[in-house]
Amino acid sequence: MAQKLLLRYKDNERMNHWFLALMFFLAGLSGLAFFHPSFYFFTHLFGGGAWARILHPFMGVLMVISFLGLFFRLWKQNTFTDADREWKKHMGDMLKGNKASLPPVGKYNYGQKMVFWAMTLSLVVLLVTGVMFWRPWFDGVFPIPVQRVAVLLHAVSAVVLVISTVVHVYAAIWVKGTVRAMTRGTVTESWAKLNHPLWHQEMTKK
Ligand code: HEM
Repeated sequence: MAQKLLLRYKDNERMNHWFLALMFFLAGLSGLAFFHPSFYFFTHLFGGGAWARILHPFMGVLMVISFLGLFFRLWKQNTFTDADREWKKHMGDMLKGNKASLPPVGKYNYGQKMVFWAMTLSLVVLLVTGVMFWRPWFDGVFPIPVQRVAVLLHAVSAVVLVISTVVHVYAAIWVKGTVRAMTRGTVTESWAKLNHPLWHQEMTKK
């Protein structure tokens, strides 16, 4: 029997998400090229060192703008509740695959919310610090010692963003039936009941 489907993301939200993912990979690969000489070969993807250097900040800004598109739609659903604090205590059960003993969750669980805020914070730091040493546009605006601290914070927040994204992608693949939420826009009713029972109730009440 065909499974009943629930709409999780509209077309424009999915296009927004995949544009964001593309910008993340492009800004990430060009950034890695400057991170360590052993990654310098990535500059070939962008037309050489000079072009990678020119394009990297623009791709970074596009990544932040496209993240904002999702942020304004989803931040309310990512705020922490008492149910999340309770869920956090049972995180071990989630990792063991013992989902039945987890307190019911809404559209996003505690882990997803943590990833969402880690992405938000790291992108804010990447943007602010990146502008501080974006030559030639902001050349001379910030003193050299401030720019040096900015370079360090930029690298640290890039590492945080990459780790958050690795966790995000791993979790999306690990929880079967999740990836289709972002490819087709829909999830099965049984996926919703099992992983996000409060969201399922909300969606089927209407
Ligand atoms: C190949 C890479 C990626 C895959 C396979 C992927 C997959 C997914 C999936 C399946 C969802 C829906 C999860 C759900 O509704 O429960 C989702 C949501 C989301 N993704 Fe991705 N994603 C990728 C890359 C990224 C990147 C690079 C970012 C940000 C830098 C990102 C940010 C988000 C955000 C903000 C949401 C909304 C969920 C929330 O608010 O917690 N994704 N992604």
